[in-house]
Amino acid sequence: MVQPYNKSKDKKSEVRAMFNNIALKYDFLNHLLSFGIDIFWRKRLIRELLKYKPENVLDMATGTADLAIMASRKGIKRLTGIDLSEKMIEVGNDKIKKYNMASSIMLEVGDAEKIERNSDTFDAAMVAFGVRNFSNLRDGLKELNRVLMPGAPLFILEFSKPKVFPVKQLYNFYSFKLLPLIGRMISSDPRAYLYLPESIQAFPSGDEFAGILKECHYDKIKQIRLSFGIASIYIGHKTITSQ
Ligand SMILES: C[S@@+](CC[C@H](N)C(=O)[O-])C[C@H]1O[C@@H](n2cnc3c(N)ncnc32)[C@H](O)[C@@H]1O
Repeated sequence: MVQPYNKSKDKKSEVRAMFNNIALKYDFLNHLLSFGIDIFWRKRLIRELLKYKPENVLDMATGTADLAIMASRKGIKRLTGIDLSEKMIEVGNDKIKKYNMASSIMLEVGDAEKIERNSDTFDAAMVAFGVRNFSNLRDGLKELNRVLMPGAPLFILEFSKPKVFPVKQLYNFYSFKLLPLIGRMISSDPRAYLYLPESIQAFPSGDEFAGILKECHYDKIKQIRLSFGIASIYIGHKTITSQ
């Protein structure tokens, strides 16, 4: 299993520690290292989400709440953001206060693999760049399934692996050589920027990920490839007869 520090067997506490370490610089580094493309990817996810006209949305692994804030700006009135890292939540709450969004977004510290909500609660759920960090991917996807209403959609935005020449070669050079170098220069936690490409490489994408969604009781699965396959949005729906 790929872990941030590889110092213990507990991926969850390493992931929490890593995001607590980088929380204050997360937004800045995120947009810088992706050249701002992540903003377009998130916007695309929100566009897909709005097609369902949801009223009660879960943003799991919300981090600093960028996706929830974007959804609130588009008129979604009830959003719950949950994240393992209390420091990421703190940064997110500061932004929500600054943008006066406290009436529509509620953030809390919590675990995707043990969501403290009743079954069949949300009419949509989303996870941006979060599932790769779950300790147990299937447990997290099944928990998300449990709290979704039957038939409700789950949106996952995650890095995938570009396959076409020369995007694949350029991307690999950037993520394995340049990114760790830049991370080492500007982040207080250089290991975080080695963990990023390593975890992307080890993570299932495309049909393999779609198969895992199916195993976890999602159907009508769709993949939208973004930027030549550097990232993808996966959409699955809670199977009506899954419980
Ligand atoms: C790369 S950040 C993404 C944050 C945000 N969704 C975004 O798009 O910027 C990944 C987040 O996943 C959170 N995370 C990892 N494992 C988690 C789990 N089991 N439950 C909840 N959050 C988790 C981390 O704390 C971190 O904030």
